[in-house]
Amino acid sequence: MALLNLKNKKIVISAGASGIGWATAKICLSKGAKVYLCDNNIKNINKIKKNPLNNKRLFIHECDASDEYDVEKFFDKIIKKTRKIDALINNVGVAGPTGNIEKLNSEDWEKTLKVNVISHFYFTKLAIPMLKKNRGGSIINVSSGAGIMGFPLRSPYAASKWAVVGLTKTLAMELGKFKIRVNAICPGTIKGNRMVRVIKDKANFLKMSEKKIEKEFISMASMNCWIYEEDIGKFCSFLISDEAERISGQVIGIDGNAIRLD
Ligand SMILES: NC(=O)c1ccc[n+]([C@@H]2O[C@H](COP(=O)([O-])OP(=O)(O)OC[C@H]3O[C@@H](n4cnc5c(N)ncnc54)[C@H](O)[C@@H]3O)[C@@H](O)[C@H]2O)c1
Repeated sequence: MALLNLKNKKIVISAGASGIGWATAKICLSKGAKVYLCDNNIKNINKIKKNPLNNKRLFIHECDASDEYDVEKFFDKIIKKTRKIDALINNVGVAGPTGNIEKLNSEDWEKTLKVNVISHFYFTKLAIPMLKKNRGGSIINVSSGAGIMGFPLRSPYAASKWAVVGLTKTLAMELGKFKIRVNAICPGTIKGNRMVRVIKDKANFLKMSEKKIEKEFISMASMNCWIYEEDIGKFCSFLISDEAERISGQVIGIDGNAIRLD
């Protein structure tokens, strides 16, 4: 993996100014890629602008991934820099609400689906012509363990992540003839800010201690471990590389063998 070469590969990442997206961007940059990322959080963007990695190979833009017009403006900026790209990582996704379905409201449901699924449509639609100009490339859709298993109390999230898998399988069939590979990755429980929020919400809902909820989350992988953002970044860099040139239509767990989500 250390020898993996992404020299001059051009990679677009949605919601990449922190978490999995930024970890992936850093790994791709270290392997020679050019990265175009967007995020809607100006604080996270400004932090990156001060990072030594902010050089000529990194372009950052403020954009709400769930706003079609904003995404079009992001691509307008990219097109001014390059006509073709090698990869798109549809990374944006929110956790959505926690609760039994009869207590959830339609606004939260719609927001979760808008960000987690419809955003991917906006990015993919604009990326495909640039991948075709490149005569091939890689689309990686970030799903979740909740995209292959049920996830009690998180119905909108699970529904959205299963939709990402359906989108992946379909696009892989539509785009194979253009040498555009499409895969979904399903991260397990990542050690990071999002899980701190998810654990807090679940502990509040179930009136249990956060420590106990955290232990339960970790035990959902047979390897009994946290997953790290870098685990996802390393695998994305492999899927983008020429080493993965015949891998498409796959749904791959990076989760220490997650056996349940509850
Ligand atoms: N963290 C986990 O445990 C975990 C597990 C499985 C799957 N995932 C999936 O991985 C992906 C990344 O997760 P993460 O934990 O790194 O995310 P995160 O919650 O840490 O957020 C990453 C970035 O996304 C940005 N963002 C959020 N909404 C946005 C929007 N509408 N437009 C633009 N930027 C936006 C945030 O500002 C932030 O900088 C998501 O699709 C998530 O569902 C995460």
